[in-house]
Amino acid sequence: MYNYAGKRAIVTGAANGIGKAIALRLSAEGCAVALWDMDEQRLRSTLEELGEGRGHSAHVVDVSGVDAVKAAFAATTTGWGTAPDILVNNAGIGRLASILDVTPVDFDRTLAVNVGGTFNCCHAIVPSMRANGGGQIINMASWFGKSGRPNSLAYCASKFAIIGMTQSMAIDLSAYGIRVNAVCPGTIDNTDMRKQADAEAAKLGMPPAAERQHLIPLKRLGQPQDIARVVAFLISDEASYMTGQSINVTGGLWMN
Ligand SMILES: NC(=O)c1ccc[n+]([C@@H]2O[C@H](COP(=O)([O-])OP(=O)(O)OC[C@H]3O[C@@H](n4cnc5c(N)ncnc54)[C@H](O)[C@@H]3O)[C@@H](O)[C@H]2O)c1
Repeated sequence: MYNYAGKRAIVTGAANGIGKAIALRLSAEGCAVALWDMDEQRLRSTLEELGEGRGHSAHVVDVSGVDAVKAAFAATTTGWGTAPDILVNNAGIGRLASILDVTPVDFDRTLAVNVGGTFNCCHAIVPSMRANGGGQIINMASWFGKSGRPNSLAYCASKFAIIGMTQSMAIDLSAYGIRVNAVCPGTIDNTDMRKQADAEAAKLGMPPAAERQHLIPLKRLGQPQDIARVVAFLISDEASYMTGQSINVTGGLWMN
């Protein structure tokens, strides 16, 4: 465990799946956590799980909207009275579709949430981190951001972009004590994204992830907590010489 007592973290997409696991982990480490998500009902139950006190809060926000992100940021920092130390850009969507069947609407929406959302949050929050003398940014990429994958045109484009943004920001922000890293999950179970991908794969005649576990060197699907552990490490001083990295957490499924 790390001790993040007194630190404040914003986690996007925190109502479910990987983001929720990250929020719970950072809370257990002593952080005050602001949960940002579109899903109001699940936000409320995640906030209940975190428990009252220590500055936890929940904010309904669509990260693809510039003004919505600014408003959530204002509400979050008004509650805390100061800037966040940690930003985890985790909110993301994806649909299985190749260039032959992706719609322009789906393509735009995937880029707007995954890339635009990461941009909007960094654009709104980084100036306050700089003014505060430093911070940590973690961006949720994917192994689909390191290699083209079947039926994943828009999603791959968005995750490649996130890795590029991570590297670019890492260089630009190093002078201000801000480290920027990305995590690249493999096949992570117990998420809505996994359920949706399995349902869409079935329509394409592809097997569900559980039936492909034997292809993973560690022979199991990942869990949201596997990702949360690595996020907690990257934020810590144990990772103080790491920036601009995109860390695979795939059970060995992807190694580059
Ligand atoms: N599950 C996997 O196998 C896997 C693999 C690689 C990467 N990832 C990435 O991990 C991240 C989390 O996904 P997950 O697997 O936990 O999926 P999930 O669908 O369970 O959770 C995503 C959360 O993001 C929220 N969200 C979606 N669009 C939003 C928006 N516009 N504004 C605010 N919140 C929004 C959803 O309401 C949800 O709570 C995503 O960036 C995803 O691309 C997941």
